[in-house]
Amino acid sequence: MSTKQFDVVVIGAGPGGYIAAIRAAQLGFSVACVDEWSNAKGGAAPGGTCTNVGCIPSKALLQSSEHFEHAGHSFAEHGIDVAGLQLNLGQMLKRKDNVVKQNNDGILYLFKKNKIAFFHGRASFAGAAGAGYDVSVAGAANETLNAKHVIIATGSNARELPGAPFDEKLILSNTGALAIDAVPAKLGVIGAGVIGLEMGSVWRRLGSDVTILEGLPVLLGAVDEQIAKEAGKLFAKQGLKISLGCKIGTITPGADNVSVDYVDAKGVAVTAVFDKLIISIGRTPNTNGLAADKVGLQLDERGFIAVDGDCKTNLPNVWAVGDVVRGPMLAHKAEEEGVAVAERIAGQHGHTNFNTIPWVIYTSPEIAWVGKTEQTLKAEGIAYKAGSFPFLANGRARALGDTSGMVKFLADATTDEILGVHIVGPMASELISEAVVAMEFKASAEDIARICHAHPSLSEATKEAALAVDKRTLNF
Ligand code: FAD
Ligand code: NAI
Repeated sequence: MSTKQFDVVVIGAGPGGYIAAIRAAQLGFSVACVDEWSNAKGGAAPGGTCTNVGCIPSKALLQSSEHFEHAGHSFAEHGIDVAGLQLNLGQMLKRKDNVVKQNNDGILYLFKKNKIAFFHGRASFAGAAGAGYDVSVAGAANETLNAKHVIIATGSNARELPGAPFDEKLILSNTGALAIDAVPAKLGVIGAGVIGLEMGSVWRRLGSDVTILEGLPVLLGAVDEQIAKEAGKLFAKQGLKISLGCKIGTITPGADNVSVDYVDAKGVAVTAVFDKLIISIGRTPNTNGLAADKVGLQLDERGFIAVDGDCKTNLPNVWAVGDVVRGPMLAHKAEEEGVAVAERIAGQHGHTNFNTIPWVIYTSPEIAWVGKTEQTLKAEGIAYKAGSFPFLANGRARALGDTSGMVKFLADATTDEILGVHIVGPMASELISEAVVAMEFKASAEDIARICHAHPSLSEATKEAALAVDKRTLNF
């Protein structure tokens, strides 16, 4: 079998890998991308965790379940009576699978459009060869590829709790949590992080009694405290039962349920029995099968591929991006790094600004933020001014029937530069973009306060929060 020659080989076709491949191809390189993910029929399913069992299917189910909840609870207030409302979970899951497939197909189309050679199989380092590296592909495609540059974007896997391996029937990772085929009467979730809250919300809306057991004594410790507290109150009102400060003990799967022994925050030993248990306690980098040792690729003490600020590994011309390296495990962070690496390979100055990466939790209401939280500013001794505006006082939010939450601005006490923006409320995922742009351009709160925002729109709450920094809100 002859070796196929490329300028760049990308391992992994998640958001980090496929975007790096496209950018490298745009810059004139010959590019191969290898990914091992298969769909139910064994065909290639590029897009990684994000497309197959992450961002995309979770948002599809969040949307469907939100429609279901609105139809059951808030349509009547709008004067829309729905008689005989019923859940067709099979159709809901089918739609989610279709949305995933559209994304898989879209990436295959983009590979073709950009003349990227796609190989479906597992890639591993075979050794340094010629001016670069040999990469073996095993699976549907069996090839040896050679390239001067290799970009590793192999992503992450759900972390297991010791003694409770995922069986995806009773003990579920994100994969199983997105494919439960009958609404569990009692759903347990361990970990009140992003996945726990999003998946907990989906199944609660569809009728499950959801209990989330969190190890830390506070909810969403990385989120601005005021916003996290507000979100916690709203989740409790919706019926999500979140127990903080739990020490998880033995997890025992039975024939059709699973019991969890834990000690609660008051020190009381509890045994809870659930029909299904989702474990969402973070993710571990995926370097399985890469044969990193064959080329001496260095990992850090936590198993991530060790990289510098430019995503360079210890090996010349081997780069790594996305979940498999340090930093937030977010699709858009992976994409930014992928673009930056392709541009560096081309001799350009690709850059990822870690200070302006937005975070979004797609609960209802959504939580979104960029920059520093109030507690971080205090800890770092930075003098700041704060201003917030509640959606309750926003006309569009009232018309939507969703007035929960607020927008909060944090600005430098002396220069007024925006240091952080935190939102809990309707469409926070979209509203946060304005703050990201503003922070990239080092805008002040006054800059946003002086920009004309359409009326009536949720974005007026952003303007008003910026005005609030200077105690000049107009509508509150
Ligand atoms: P991945 O997407 O994991 O892709 C890695 C790819 O590499 C996979 O296809 C894998 O099969 C392949 N691979 C691995 N090893 C090999 C090998 N040796 N050979 C060939 N192929 C290999 N992030 C957001 O920003 N927004 C969200 O809304 C969001 N929602 C999420 C919801 C859930 C339930 C989960 C689990 C995650 C979510 N994330 C979200 C996180 C997001 O999915 C990841 O940050 C993102 O997928 C990371 O991209 P990546 O390219 O680094 O890796
Ligand atoms: P996470 O890091 O968001 O949350 C894990 C939670 O589990 C934390 O609150 C942690 O304190 C808790 N925990 C850890 N060990 C525990 C234990 N032994 N007992 C009880 N609680 C424990 O991780 P999660 O939810 O698994 O998601 C992984 C990552 O995927 C996220 O950090 C995020 O990067 C990404 N993601 C992003 C989404 C988005 O952008 N909307 C959606 C879903 C996932």
